[in-house]
Amino acid sequence: MHFVINGCEAELDFDPRTSLLDLLREHRHLFGAKKGCDQGACGACTVLVDGTRINSCLALAVQYQDCAITTIEGLGGPDKLHPLQAAFVEHDGFQCGYCTPGQICSALGMVEELKRGVPSYVSADVSAAGFELTDDELRERMSGNLCRCGAYNGIVDAIHDTFGADGAEPARREAA
Ligand code: FES
Ligand code: FES
Repeated sequence: MHFVINGCEAELDFDPRTSLLDLLREHRHLFGAKKGCDQGACGACTVLVDGTRINSCLALAVQYQDCAITTIEGLGGPDKLHPLQAAFVEHDGFQCGYCTPGQICSALGMVEELKRGVPSYVSADVSAAGFELTDDELRERMSGNLCRCGAYNGIVDAIHDTFGADGAEPARREAA
């Protein structure tokens, strides 16, 4: 089976019952995405597939052949942080860091949803063409990503600092 993970192509052979999370962690040794609940409740396993955020613990890997799979390792690293990673550092958006890769991937997926005009539960006008990234919208749209350390205020600040009030702008900060 053919996969594209963080821009690298790979031919992989594995049990077709393998979840995408297990494929990434156990077969590709990409340990950024975490196995928290393994049942779709915590968001620690969030990755991007063709720019859309998904819980990789609930996804069968075979479904995502030939898709562009992006994990936190594909966004940036210590030598060149993604702007949102840098903002998490600057705003104390994490403590233990367990949830952080999922938070960052999820936030990037959320911004894509804003661009597409996808409403949330708290959107007043679901027919609107676009949505401002208010605190309420941000907290609702990120509610699938839990942080046991309670670093939510820093997470909100980091996302706002990176994407601004409309959320639809590309990252404004330069990578560190
Ligand atoms: Fe996937 Fe918790 S490990 S949602
Ligand atoms: Fe520890 Fe979020 S930083 S769980």
